[in-house]
Amino acid sequence: MTAPTREAPRRALVTGGAGGIGAHLVFALRERGWAVRVLDNFSSGRVENLAPVREDPQVEVLRADVTDLAKIAPHFQGVDTVWHLSANPDVRRGAVETDLDVQQGTVATRNVLEAMRRANVSTIAFSSSSVVYGHPKVFPTREDYGPLLPESLYGASKLGSEGLISAFCHSFGFRSWIFRFANVVGPGANHGVIYDFLKKIEKTPDRLEVLGDGKQSKGYLWVEDCVQAMIYATEHSNDAVNVFNLAPEDTISVAEIAQKVLTLTGSKARIEYTGGPRGWPGDVPVQRLSIERLKAIGYRPRYRSAEVVEKAIRTLQAELRGPTSAATRAR
Ligand SMILES: NC(=O)c1ccc[n+]([C@@H]2O[C@H](COP(=O)([O-])OP(=O)(O)OC[C@H]3O[C@@H](n4cnc5c(N)ncnc54)[C@H](O)[C@@H]3O)[C@@H](O)[C@H]2O)c1
Repeated sequence: MTAPTREAPRRALVTGGAGGIGAHLVFALRERGWAVRVLDNFSSGRVENLAPVREDPQVEVLRADVTDLAKIAPHFQGVDTVWHLSANPDVRRGAVETDLDVQQGTVATRNVLEAMRRANVSTIAFSSSSVVYGHPKVFPTREDYGPLLPESLYGASKLGSEGLISAFCHSFGFRSWIFRFANVVGPGANHGVIYDFLKKIEKTPDRLEVLGDGKQSKGYLWVEDCVQAMIYATEHSNDAVNVFNLAPEDTISVAEIAQKVLTLTGSKARIEYTGGPRGWPGDVPVQRLSIERLKAIGYRPRYRSAEVVEKAIRTLQAELRGPTSAATRAR
């Protein structure tokens, strides 16, 4: 993907651009000179996340639902590259609403691809997830690990989307970047374990319920590292389908995160584990991704998981307390 020229800015379309990761991607693309069109239905995204670019004439924010192909298709005209980030962000909801991830994940991705095909747009970058690996037997898990057997409906929808993207690349000459994220945290987050823990001790200050036995162990990536790595990878790889794990090299356990939350917030809450190796059906107890492919093209995340978790606790705690927008603080 070539960088835009100064005279004629190239246009990126970001689905889910008002979300925790999407808003940071919008800022990073603007810094590189791209004009940006955001499509978001604001189901979990917030207009305040985009406050720093509110007055920017090169950023268009459109309220639109990607599950409605007829309505979104016209917005793909004149676009050079699509960054498809919209999705149901909450893995656990799939266990109670079994249609949610199919519609918001797989069907939405097909709509985005079809809208691209109709508008002659052929470059897409997609936010997939480490959950496509299911319960892998090899660590660190590489991008070529298989078979891919996700254990949540969210994971299934991401894998379905990856398949559709690959098929559109091979059927219609598209080029794609598929990013399998670890846990991504930072300003503007509205879900995830750190957010949950902070909300819980606010509600019940004397106890912190931790789902599972606390031994679940995963990698945590700072949101700005995530979007910089995505952009970097699109600029430094050029296959028809480019798949990258985006993660730190180490992991941190849920018990350590719970302890850090108590220490950094000064809470005296008692930690209570619900027990069992998984937090919920479909939870992946251990996630440790290989990032050799990312390092081979020259990108290395800046922070270790423990540092990311500490930064996220401080940032989210300040956000939950104060009225200032997440994105404003992030800049
Ligand atoms: N945060 C993580 O740890 C993580 C990990 C793996 C993958 N991902 C993926 O990264 C992407 C961004 O996640 P996030 O953490 O920023 O979540 P988020 O909820 O903050 O962002 C999702 C955005 O998509 C929008 N959206 C949802 N459904 C839509 C629809 N039908 N039409 C238009 N917009 C819609 C939401 O309003 C929101 O702005 C998602 O695809 C998510 O699955 C996130």
